[in-house]
Amino acid sequence: STSKPVVVAIDGPAGSGKSSVSRATARALGFDYLDTGASYRALSWDLLDRGIDAAEVDRVIEELERFDFRIGTDPDDYYVRVGSTDVTDAIREPRVTAVVSLVARIPEVRRGLNERFRAIMAGTPKPGIVAEGRDITTVVAPDAPVRILLTASEEARMGRRSKELTSETAAAVGEALRTRDEADSRVVDFMNAADGVTTVDSTELDFDQTVEAVVEVVAQTTRIS
Ligand code: DC
Repeated sequence: STSKPVVVAIDGPAGSGKSSVSRATARALGFDYLDTGASYRALSWDLLDRGIDAAEVDRVIEELERFDFRIGTDPDDYYVRVGSTDVTDAIREPRVTAVVSLVARIPEVRRGLNERFRAIMAGTPKPGIVAEGRDITTVVAPDAPVRILLTASEEARMGRRSKELTSETAAAVGEALRTRDEADSRVVDFMNAADGVTTVDSTELDFDQTVEAVVEVVAQTTRIS
């Protein structure tokens, strides 16, 4: 088909269940799935691997130009690669999470990665793509026919992240999450829905109900447009 793929843009804070909900939504719709946070993480991993300090902005930008990044957009075949290295698990390590906000606040990094996101979205062979992050509804794809802000109370988000931990580690996880959200929201506002963005609050919903709610927003929005 020659019609443009339907973009479903989903933003939200850490621990909102965004990634798993977005992936399941893509699966339910037969769409592709794009995890934009993974690219910020992969670049951060690459900088750590090369011993480049995120504060050395010129070197970061130089590295971005030759940054060879691949991401699996099939919701059933998710992977992240830098060059020939599979970094799917490595990008979740605390040492990466600790620097990613610093990397993500560099405007040239955001502009460069946004171009790649737009190319991936336009190039999907599926009828649509679910793209999730912090600024998809506002910056990356402000014209997307479906734009959703996925929220949950801070308590619910902390609870989901620290389910299997002791209360002491849970407190540390909560603190780290809060610190990162604070740093990230200074760069892009993902706590408040922009004009035309539908909020889905998952505080009282389980996983399946959240996916259903998101799929319902997609169905309603694409029906009336
Ligand atoms: O969703 P995540 O936790 O994997 O994202 C990792 C970091 O990348 C997060 O701390 C903020 C940043 N990020 C961003 O600034 N813009 C996006 N569209 C996605 C992620």
